[in-house]
Amino acid sequence: MHSIFLRIFGRSGKTYKALRSILNLEKGKVLDLGGGEGRIAEFFAKNGYKTVILDPSKEMLDLVRDKRIVKKLGKADKIPYGNNTFDLVYCVASFHHFSEGSEKNKINLYEKISKEMIRVVKKNRKIIIIDLNPNKWFLGRMAELFERKKGCIFFPPEEIKKLFRKYNVNVYEHGSGYAVIIIK
Ligand SMILES: C[S@@+](CC[C@H](N)C(=O)[O-])C[C@H]1O[C@@H](n2cnc3c(N)ncnc32)[C@H](O)[C@@H]1O
Repeated sequence: MHSIFLRIFGRSGKTYKALRSILNLEKGKVLDLGGGEGRIAEFFAKNGYKTVILDPSKEMLDLVRDKRIVKKLGKADKIPYGNNTFDLVYCVASFHHFSEGSEKNKINLYEKISKEMIRVVKKNRKIIIIDLNPNKWFLGRMAELFERKKGCIFFPPEEIKKLFRKYNVNVYEHGSGYAVIIIK
């Protein structure tokens, strides 16, 4: 089930349009990391993108309705696809969940995850991370307060940018403060 934060997070159609405008690519193969029940992925599938959801929750994947979406069980730190496979890798409201409750290994784990995301995206293509900002938005602060107890770790955009800047990629924040964009 969606958390209350996800419901308030925004309409999925609106998020899809924002992603599309940042993406600037008509067709291609996209990977939705932590895509859950396909709230955003279904728009990509409907619009002709070959769409894959990678998620460790069978319960969530079972809720995916669109038959065009490829459902893959797995985690962001070990993406079961080859190098340079996707035209877009994105995650919406899921980056903070990839921590799996492990504050201790946070840096190691997120270093693995960022490396994996870069590995599977094609050269000159984008990774887009959309998540709540725990330092800025009221909703971000609230989400952090409640979801931290479940082991989620929220990264402000500056920290996400720092994480990816270690690699040979371009990293910037979308003007709206809505997303961090990484170009391989
Ligand atoms: C709040 S839901 C967001 C779902 C979807 N992105 C959306 O916007 O509707 C977070 C998702 O992250 C998934 N998740 C948790 N740990 C993960 C991991 N290590 N790798 C990939 N996905 C993970 C959960 O199973 C869940 O489906």
